[in-house]
Amino acid sequence: MQKHPGEQAMKMLVTGAAGFVGSHLVDELLSRGATVVGTDNLLRGRMENLAGAGANDRFTFIEAELGDPDKIPDALLAIGPCDMVWHMAANSDIAAGARDDAIDFRDTFQTTRSALAICRATDARRLVFASTSAVYGENDEALAEDTGPLLPISNYGAMKLAAEAAISAAVETFLDTAFILRFPNVIGSRATHGVIYDFCQKLMADPSLLQVLGDGTQKKPYLYVAELVEAMLFIIDRIAGQPGRHLYNIGPRDEGVSVSEIAGAMVTHAGGTATIAYQDTDRGWVGDVPRFSYSTAKLDRLGWSPELTSRDAMLRAVAECAGEWGLT
Ligand SMILES: NC(=O)c1ccc[n+]([C@@H]2O[C@H](COP(=O)([O-])OP(=O)(O)OC[C@H]3O[C@@H](n4cnc5c(N)ncnc54)[C@H](O)[C@@H]3O)[C@@H](O)[C@H]2O)c1
Repeated sequence: MQKHPGEQAMKMLVTGAAGFVGSHLVDELLSRGATVVGTDNLLRGRMENLAGAGANDRFTFIEAELGDPDKIPDALLAIGPCDMVWHMAANSDIAAGARDDAIDFRDTFQTTRSALAICRATDARRLVFASTSAVYGENDEALAEDTGPLLPISNYGAMKLAAEAAISAAVETFLDTAFILRFPNVIGSRATHGVIYDFCQKLMADPSLLQVLGDGTQKKPYLYVAELVEAMLFIIDRIAGQPGRHLYNIGPRDEGVSVSEIAGAMVTHAGGTATIAYQDTDRGWVGDVPRFSYSTAKLDRLGWSPELTSRDAMLRAVAECAGEWGLT
């Protein structure tokens, strides 16, 4: 958020703050002068992601479970007036959610109800929600914000869609503004999951073999995490004064890169000796959408597009993650 002259620093709450996107968001909000309260149950998030933020006296961390809106810790409800809640907490293991639908109900939907309850308690009138391209399901057409019907093929996508609906309803009662931002695949340092994380983990366990989930033809758009954070802040700065529901796809303009290209780049970074093995299926797991094309025309019209293509973003993220894992 831009700080305008004479304006008091904004107070923000970030859920999922110790996770991949949340921790980068916290760093950027702090660098822009905000006071930030971060919360996470540390299920997937790591305190080391918040090492830089922790050294800033405008940052406070509250470890809290948000999976039950009737049991939100008092410490969170008592943080005092808050300008904006950024709801980033969710399940990020889509395959686990296919095996057990309680996971996305708790970590993706109920956490959203908790975020809304915190908005009420702290009088935060603006909520930013990390939604996903997964709400679109499997669809051959260019997917724009008004694409329908929305028929997700994962419990993760289903609970994100339900969460969008709950947020939309809250705009009719206690929220002034909801930013529902649908992300593509986001990549970069501090990853806690995803294809590059999976490859790093596998190459650490066995440097001679990279077993790919699926046949490698899956092709998706990828956005570098710093550009995602920049895009979110751009959207909010541009339309913050306008009440209502603001729905945006965020992503690159291209159609993406294939998993086999990512595997090749990963093996090159790890010394080039691993054999890459594929499975005989076009998708990595139940609920995986192997291809989608994603319209970012609405965001283009607002005036933002990323500098990095999916391929640039992928190469940068592979280098960063390989470095973090000590694979280079
Ligand atoms: N990374 C992507 O490619 C991507 C794509 C589309 C949407 N998103 C969305 O962006 C947001 C951030 O994703 P991410 O990649 O940083 O994932 P992440 O798993 O790194 O971060 C989510 C954080 O939420 C926390 N969390 C989960 N359940 C919780 C609960 N019940 N109570 C409290 N904390 C809980 C986790 O510990 C984790 O730190 C998520 O909402 C995700 O669905 C991410």
